[in-house]
Amino acid sequence: MADAPKRTVTLTDDQNGQSWKLPVLDGTEGPSVIDIRKLYGETGYFTHDPGFTSTSSCESKITFIDGDKGILLHRGYPIDQLANKSDFLEVAYLLQYGELPNPTEKQDWVKHITYHTMVHEQLSSFFSGFRRDAHPMAIMCGVVGALSAFYHDSTDIHDPVQREVACHRLIAKMPTLAAMAYKYSIGQPFVYPQNNLSYAENFLYMCYSVPAEPYKINPVLAKAMDKIFILHADHEQNASTSTVRLASSSGANPFACIAAGITSLWGPAHGGANEAVLKMLMEIGSKDKIPEIVRRAKDKSDSFRLMGFGHRVYKNYDPRAKVMQETCREVLAELGIKNDPLLETAMELERVALQDDYFVQKKLYPNVDFYSGIILRAMGFPMSMFTVLFALARTAGWVSHWQEQFGEGGEQKIGRPRQLYTGATERDFVPVDKRK
Ligand code: CMC
Repeated sequence: MADAPKRTVTLTDDQNGQSWKLPVLDGTEGPSVIDIRKLYGETGYFTHDPGFTSTSSCESKITFIDGDKGILLHRGYPIDQLANKSDFLEVAYLLQYGELPNPTEKQDWVKHITYHTMVHEQLSSFFSGFRRDAHPMAIMCGVVGALSAFYHDSTDIHDPVQREVACHRLIAKMPTLAAMAYKYSIGQPFVYPQNNLSYAENFLYMCYSVPAEPYKINPVLAKAMDKIFILHADHEQNASTSTVRLASSSGANPFACIAAGITSLWGPAHGGANEAVLKMLMEIGSKDKIPEIVRRAKDKSDSFRLMGFGHRVYKNYDPRAKVMQETCREVLAELGIKNDPLLETAMELERVALQDDYFVQKKLYPNVDFYSGIILRAMGFPMSMFTVLFALARTAGWVSHWQEQFGEGGEQKIGRPRQLYTGATERDFVPVDKRK
């Protein structure tokens, strides 16, 4: 728990001069918060904050972001160090348990995850119920929610062992389900996981191998895939993570909660932005169209926004975007792609936007999605799979936040926001023949 409040702020009602002292809580990093839990009971007022721009929704020890400085820490470790020195499963362990694993813990953890990668055979028949041209995110919403119909022995949220097994299963099975969604869309047979491969290698194997011939893993691409997973693993109380927490607050089972997170991630303002960025870069086509696209992004009468730019929390360069840009170069070099027109357009767009007063004043910088689509496309993924890969990686964060709600300092109270009601006041029902 945060330390007991040492100071207060005073809220005064200007109408009648009445005032109330509200406790201030300090975290270990970041802004302090005004504790308003008793506000309504004591004052009769709610607070009003649509979009939660000034609201802390929970206490958490998992991830810290300093948006002004462009800092992202998981359990205290900077994201660039994790991306360059760790691996995805180690980061997933760190998010979940709070510390990096020692060698024995790591071995056990990797084994646990690896041996949960297969999905119930009956689950395969779910896929054939979808149209072949279904968006893979639509499939993921369905099949991840359906896991709760298959793994009854890990849905009792009051049993810590079942909760842990559910987390293992979700981290382990997401690549298998994501690869199945991909294979289904291209009409190829599903490929079973291989336990001798790493998490990222296995995912590439399940996506790109076919039963008819051997498949050779490219270590540079596998490393890049792993880095992309790390960069997407968690990001504090974003829309999808908050959705998972809210869904869980009602006591819903873990698979249903993660399915809720997937639906929230899908939107273009969140995880769907990587797909939207690539569509935008393709539409721009050549550098000479950039001034026009920047003009449109600034025009208030046009709903168009520069996709992959701006962030609710970062008012500086997104630290994930920096690593992503380096990874992009490594992947394109490995694949022998010289002068990729999309990368060139993206870099020129970034250069132009970062010199433009509008973007400078509003502190709009490239975010994690700006370069990821270029890498994923070069690796062979269709655009529709980009957000699926985001969901796969973010599952590590979602399950950690889900677990945190049950631990010390966790909030198991049902999430129930209130509202500022501006509708009709009470009136009497009018029978249909009397209505004008
Ligand atoms: N292009 C043009 N103008 C922008 C953009 C943009 N990409 N982003 C923000 N603005 C403007 C916006 O019009 C507003 O201007 P004004 O104050 O004059 O009304 C101002 O900047 C603040 O924007 P906001 O919408 O109030 O900020 P927000 O914190 O609610 O939205 C955002 C954050 C990420 C939804 C938004 O920046 C955006 O839509 N970006 C494009 C989509 C995108 O790249 N999303 C991925 C986010 S990172 C991955 C993830 O976390 O899922």
